[in-house]
Amino acid sequence: MAKTYAITNQKGGVGKTTTAVNLAAAVAEKAKRVLLIDFDPQGNASTGCGVDKMTLSRSSYEVVMGEATVADSVQRPAGLAFDVLPTNGDLTAAEVNLLDENLKENRLKLALGLVQDQYDFIFIDCPPSLSMLTINALVASQGVIIPIQCEYYALEGLSGLLKTIERIKQRLNPELEVTGLVRTLFDSRNNLSNQVSRQLITHFEAKVFHTIIPRNVRLAEAPSHGLPVTMYDQSSRGTITYRSLASEFLRREK
Ligand SMILES: Nc1ncnc2c1ncn2[C@@H]1O[C@H](COP(=O)(O)OP(=O)(O)OP(=O)(O)O)[C@@H](O)[C@H]1O
Ligand SMILES: [Mg+2]
Repeated sequence: MAKTYAITNQKGGVGKTTTAVNLAAAVAEKAKRVLLIDFDPQGNASTGCGVDKMTLSRSSYEVVMGEATVADSVQRPAGLAFDVLPTNGDLTAAEVNLLDENLKENRLKLALGLVQDQYDFIFIDCPPSLSMLTINALVASQGVIIPIQCEYYALEGLSGLLKTIERIKQRLNPELEVTGLVRTLFDSRNNLSNQVSRQLITHFEAKVFHTIIPRNVRLAEAPSHGLPVTMYDQSSRGTITYRSLASEFLRREK
């Protein structure tokens, strides 16, 4: 049985996609069967894995609308050790189209039911909003991974996100748990980063992953080559820290 994780934070640009792509790659390196779902119409995770999002015949849009299966829509990009269910701007239409559907919050969960035996871990890269897409991801998941950029507004958005997760747990998905918070884009020379980081540990204690993802230029460059950082630059701090996050994640989740 696969275990599914939504990588989410309604705040934009906090490292969701970078975490989704590189955690998927680093977990897959450990001989685990991994699926990465791009569930953001921006399609950044697709591009970051080297998938040409302009030429997709099937994507997470068709899957969530019930027009294609996951198995028929995934791709295995050259050189990667995990599958990708890509997407593009078409997924924007799902927001509106799902309004007319029954069980609209359950569409992704239903689709993933058919591939439970094919994977060990499924990671869903969510858009920067608490939209019907994010709700579908949270209903389909057992775990939530929350990337947090340690800056002042980070904590304000967090309480809204945690309330949404709690509401979904009560009404739609009792299995849902916060797996962990990941500190991203971290700059240890910045006092505010350190201060917010300490506050996170005070509030969330063991839910905060020990691994801290630093600001690292290789992490920013890798997507333009269509590669996870683990393949783009083996020795970079980005690779070392995402591998460390993967080990910590697997220790927690086994
Ligand atoms: N640790 C890092 N070091 C350097 N650059 C990073 C790091 N993490 C992310 N970035 C860069 O910061 C930008 C935002 O990151 P990313 O796309 O992962 O965030 P996001 O939360 O998925 O954004 P969105 O909300 O738009 O989906 C990207 O250009 C990415 O390459
Ligand atoms: Mg993103």
